[in-house]
Amino acid sequence: MWDYSEKVMDHYRNPRNVGKIDNADAVGIAGSLACGDQLKIYLKIENNIVTDAKFQTFGCGSAVASSSILTEMIIGKTVDEVKKITNKDIADQLGGLPPEKMHCSVMGYEALEDALKGYGDDYQDLDDLFEPEKPEKIVCTCFDVTENVIWDAIKQNGLKTVEEVTNYTKAGGACGKCKGLIQDIIDTYYAKEKSETQLSPTQRILKINNIIETQISPELQKDGGDINLVDIKDNKVYVKLHGKCSSCKNATLTIKRFVEQTLRTAMDENIEVIEV
Ligand code: FES
Repeated sequence: MWDYSEKVMDHYRNPRNVGKIDNADAVGIAGSLACGDQLKIYLKIENNIVTDAKFQTFGCGSAVASSSILTEMIIGKTVDEVKKITNKDIADQLGGLPPEKMHCSVMGYEALEDALKGYGDDYQDLDDLFEPEKPEKIVCTCFDVTENVIWDAIKQNGLKTVEEVTNYTKAGGACGKCKGLIQDIIDTYYAKEKSETQLSPTQRILKINNIIETQISPELQKDGGDINLVDIKDNKVYVKLHGKCSSCKNATLTIKRFVEQTLRTAMDENIEVIEV
């Protein structure tokens, strides 16, 4: 038996904004009846503000609750604000969902994304007019889940395993043939994230110098000492102590530990500090 929050139960038992909007300004759809659940969302938009939202869904209680709370979350917001809502926001508003039901919040996010695709974009790149839209690559044919949906779910929720991706998107939850592809997407995502967050050698020097100047030096100055950066080679950071800090052997050891710990916490576990 799933463990549902009171808010989920409330929105399931008394769903808000159920139905259809005639002459809606935007309509989005996600999921498919063949896969067991589907959500259609209708939006009325005036002066770039969502003035009304309604939904029709075929799915479990979590799908009803996710859709219901989503409509409450978006009414009164600008289109730009609504475009920033993620599946995590939907689940958080509900006080959480069981891991196996997170795909319901993803369905809400997808329907919203579908409804607002291109909405409000006054400018269309000329290339778009001539290039046909690329079809999205289906990774899981059992549940019709695309590569983009899996990528977004990993990105928004920090998913690390195939099982988590299955909970959030359903992909991999039937024949399992797509599990290898899902693992490839997870690996690619984290490899890309790592390469994007890796600092260049210059950025690394600047960052270490900044930590020394803003976090370490002020502390040493309080006791009449100071420190400056001399050099950096791989994980070795060479520093020079000044004033009182340089005259006492015991103090030097304590300071070295303090400097090392501060740099390790902020930068890299393997940093070694050497006094010159
Ligand atoms: S192809 Fe994904 S579960 Fe079958």
